[in-house]
Amino acid sequence: MRQPLRALALIGIGIASLALLVAAVGTNTGVVERAAPVLGSDDDLLEHARRSLEEGKQTFRFDTFGDEAFWGGALKLNETIAGEENGGSGPGLSPTMALQLGLKVDADALPASLKNDIRRGRVDLEDPATTLALLRLNAVVGVTGFFENGQLVSVGIQCALCHSTVDDSFVPGMAGIGRRLDGWANRDLDVGQIINFAPDLSVLNELLGTTDQQTRDVLTSWGPGKFDAELVLDGQNHPTLIPPAFGLAGVNLGTWTGWGSVTHWNAFVANLEMHGVGRFWDPRLNDATRFPIAAANGFANLNPDLSPEDDRITPKLADLHFYQLALKAPAPPPGSFDAEAAERGDELFSGKARCNQCHVRPLFTEPGWNLHTPAEVGIDDVQAERSPDRRYRTTPLNGLWTHMKGGFFHDGRFATLLDVVEHYNDYFELVLSPEEMNDLVEYLKSLPNED
Ligand code: HEC
Ligand code: HEC
Repeated sequence: MRQPLRALALIGIGIASLALLVAAVGTNTGVVERAAPVLGSDDDLLEHARRSLEEGKQTFRFDTFGDEAFWGGALKLNETIAGEENGGSGPGLSPTMALQLGLKVDADALPASLKNDIRRGRVDLEDPATTLALLRLNAVVGVTGFFENGQLVSVGIQCALCHSTVDDSFVPGMAGIGRRLDGWANRDLDVGQIINFAPDLSVLNELLGTTDQQTRDVLTSWGPGKFDAELVLDGQNHPTLIPPAFGLAGVNLGTWTGWGSVTHWNAFVANLEMHGVGRFWDPRLNDATRFPIAAANGFANLNPDLSPEDDRITPKLADLHFYQLALKAPAPPPGSFDAEAAERGDELFSGKARCNQCHVRPLFTEPGWNLHTPAEVGIDDVQAERSPDRRYRTTPLNGLWTHMKGGFFHDGRFATLLDVVEHYNDYFELVLSPEEMNDLVEYLKSLPNED
């Protein structure tokens, strides 16, 4: 009986507000003038939310935070991208090479004429000059080119470089060009090879205390979809997979090893990884045994005297945070999993397999302090030991289907979801049958399953 009553009440409210609306319109006969929304009203909140999303999106997609001083200024990546024929050095970076490195092209940034030319094969994808044209159009996802007198004088990078991809919708069969998918992990991107493409790694060599060859060996060892965010803290080399940056609302600690909240990590990355210009404070890094490089270089207390006018990061953090939390994990395409098996897997997940004890639905991580010791999930402690709490964060599982490349767990040690389930089956002695394990896998592929 409660449901129909509630429905009736809602209809009642509906009619009442319609009447109010009619009354309001009825009296408003003069010139339409939109007053500023009343402070604290729903309109006021919506206006704030809309603006914050828009600002945050701009930052996520296009803001370099001034990091071109590092990527262009210090590494001189612009020179090897342009190539000798375009005022740089070496052969240059052709679009074909760029796509091979996993860089993505935003089709919406291309003018119609260029789209046509690419579709008809009239654009030379082997010519670095074409890459420069794409950079001028701001069409390379996560990379900004700075031009002076027609020459590429610097480059900077954005969050979107690693945490966005495209839907490959531009030309069937041609990967890497399409509409932006913000928050998706780019598991094609070879970050190490991109940095290795730079002619001058002396700042990195100095920081890490390595020879040029050693630095380049580290970078080329990572492979696609991986990056080592802790390299510049401890000098070790254990790259992790690029995780998605969507589906994080309601999730307490971020990163594979739970460094902090989303906004902690945003500030961390913008300052210490991208080398933007800002202020950062994390005294846990002042530990010369665990984080020798960070401790020696004052990363725990970065730029304490930076004037507010020169801080290119802190003023962006609120909107960036807001935008990221708004990015929801996308639902899988219909037909990409076996729905009946997934339903059985759903039962197992919170029943016999006990997955829901940690991956608590619908967040799929624990509400609270969502970390576990390595022994609690049956893996080694190498990466956990490189983080403040020496633990692994319970990975939120929504949108797993978007990153089936590169494997699972922080370092991709399990090639498939079945390997993950088999690991848990052994380690927790769950005694799942092969059919049950398959059902669990189909369930994992179905997330987020909103009904
Ligand atoms: C060079 C590639 C790269 C860039 C650029 C990058 N990230 Fe990341 N991001 C990573 C990797 C790798 C991790 C995992 C790090 C770890 O766990 O140690 C990560 C982790 C994260 C997480 C945690 C996700 C989770 O599952 O909890 C967030 C949030 C995030 N990044 C946001 C950003 C933002 C915002 C920016 C821009 C300011 C950015 N990232 C730039 C590679 C990148
Ligand atoms: C004791 C807590 C705990 C339990 C129980 C647990 N998990 Fe996990 N799960 C974790 C942690 C922690 C990680 C992160 C491991 C890492 O990063 O190396 C993880 C990672 C995963 C991943 C990898 C996600 C990715 O993006 O790479 C999958 C898939 C997963 N768990 C599924 C399951 C399933 C299915 C079950 C039940 C059979 C289960 N988990 C039970 C804590 C748990």
